[in-house]
Amino acid sequence: MARLEYRGETISDVHTIKTLLDANAIPYERWALREQVTTDEEVLQLYRPDIERLQRERGYQSADLVALKPTTPNLDGILAKFTKEHHHTDDEVRFTVAGEGVFEIATFHDDFLKFTAEPGDLIVIPAYRRHSFYLTAARAIRCIRLFETSAGWEAIYEKNF
Ligand SMILES: [Fe+2]
Repeated sequence: MARLEYRGETISDVHTIKTLLDANAIPYERWALREQVTTDEEVLQLYRPDIERLQRERGYQSADLVALKPTTPNLDGILAKFTKEHHHTDDEVRFTVAGEGVFEIATFHDDFLKFTAEPGDLIVIPAYRRHSFYLTAARAIRCIRLFETSAGWEAIYEKNF
């Protein structure tokens, strides 16, 4: 279950989290967790109903699975691309299957909220919204990504968008 930190408060109540994210136009859903399986194809197959619903509702074209763990080659190099504040021209859509990760996302009030995604959490960082991402101490996450197009998946780092 997600945790949200904002203005010195830590919120773990899912309805309060959803309300705060809604107020900042950040879509958030809880998906029912399926049994743990091994291959990427099996995971995508298990979550297919939720993936296809979201594709219909929000126009996403494709989905894949990504995993980061302490033994991932060049983990720090990979993470360095996400920890700097950036945005994308398409939505960044993440469903956490296992592990956890932290998204810091710009609000409508000139500050950032800190959302810790845990298994079962689906979050959409809207296109053009400033954000950063990093792992927790466990340094491991496995998540499904959904894409509008493959072309939009490029980080843009300029501060003054
Ligand atoms: Fe991003």
